[in-house]
Amino acid sequence: MSPTTIVLLIVLGIIAAAVIIPWLVNRIRLIANPGFYQQKVIMITGASRGIGRELALSFAAHGANLVLAARSVDELHAVAAECREKHPDTDILIIPTDVTEKAQLQNLVDSALKHFGQIDILINNAGIRQGGQFVESTMKELEVNLVAPLNLTQIALPGMFERHAGTIVNIASAAGRLAEPHFVMYGVSKHGMIGFGDGLRRELYGTRVRVITVKLDFINTDMVTEIGPSYRRMGMPMLSTKRVARRVLSGIALGKNYINVGWLSSFAAQIGVIAPWVIDIYFRLFMPKEFAEAAKRQFSE
Ligand SMILES: NC(=O)c1ccc[n+]([C@@H]2O[C@H](COP(=O)([O-])OP(=O)(O)OC[C@H]3O[C@@H](n4cnc5c(N)ncnc54)[C@H](OP(=O)(O)O)[C@@H]3O)[C@@H](O)[C@H]2O)c1
Repeated sequence: MSPTTIVLLIVLGIIAAAVIIPWLVNRIRLIANPGFYQQKVIMITGASRGIGRELALSFAAHGANLVLAARSVDELHAVAAECREKHPDTDILIIPTDVTEKAQLQNLVDSALKHFGQIDILINNAGIRQGGQFVESTMKELEVNLVAPLNLTQIALPGMFERHAGTIVNIASAAGRLAEPHFVMYGVSKHGMIGFGDGLRRELYGTRVRVITVKLDFINTDMVTEIGPSYRRMGMPMLSTKRVARRVLSGIALGKNYINVGWLSSFAAQIGVIAPWVIDIYFRLFMPKEFAEAAKRQFSE
């Protein structure tokens, strides 16, 4: 065997070990702690559909109790019924909430504390996506996607400090590192979520309250029904909500600071920070003609 082949094999071995060993260790840690979510109280905003619904189902299946918040009451009840099918003993509190109303956020936390006495994990998930030209956009995405999580976290934190325990999970996006045209406000809101998570995590070091930032690729939900085909043409994959839920549950249990779901979140988003010109070129070369029109149709409120 030539010296070059031997060096190549050693390098490949080191890379394989660097990937496989942490993966194995994590698997063993998860298997060793199967009851991690048993009886924990999980508050999820935006639980009426999409990623929030999937998270609720997964937490219920792992024995957690739930506080579900969103504006659509019927959908929340439907999600709660599905959760009970998976785990009949799940205690579920439904609190209809518009996260842009501070008084409703206060009511959400107060109701949860009255019913359960504690919030173990708060998941800031509710979000909207309003495509279109920046000159025509409003501040609504900032209010729902960024200001609401800031407000809710401020309200929930004192209870966590008192118990010296708690976890804040912020659902951000690859768009929080890699800003897209025609979704400028959305990108700003998700950049804000990542900055919020980083700052708060560093501030709370030593308090036993943890802050986790979840960066997601494009996920197959109502949020991308119109723009999805354009992303696919640009080579971006659409991932399932089930995959998100799996990664979020294992990431929290493993005590991660960041949970990245998909290669955009874990790799391309870093390029957006280190070499933004690469992303500029990518959009100039690969953005399909219909992107702007599709973005305009991608509008939730
Ligand atoms: N889908 C993706 O490609 C993707 C990628 C990266 C990150 N994310 C993030 O993941 C999170 C969930 O998105 P999704 O894809 O599951 O979207 P979705 O299917 O459109 O669900 C959005 C959820 O947010 C709730 N919501 C919206 N405005 C609200 C308000 N004012 N008050 C209370 N709840 C409100 C909605 O409930 P009601 O309408 O009933 O109030 C719904 O439950 C968002 O933060 C999103 O930015 C999504």
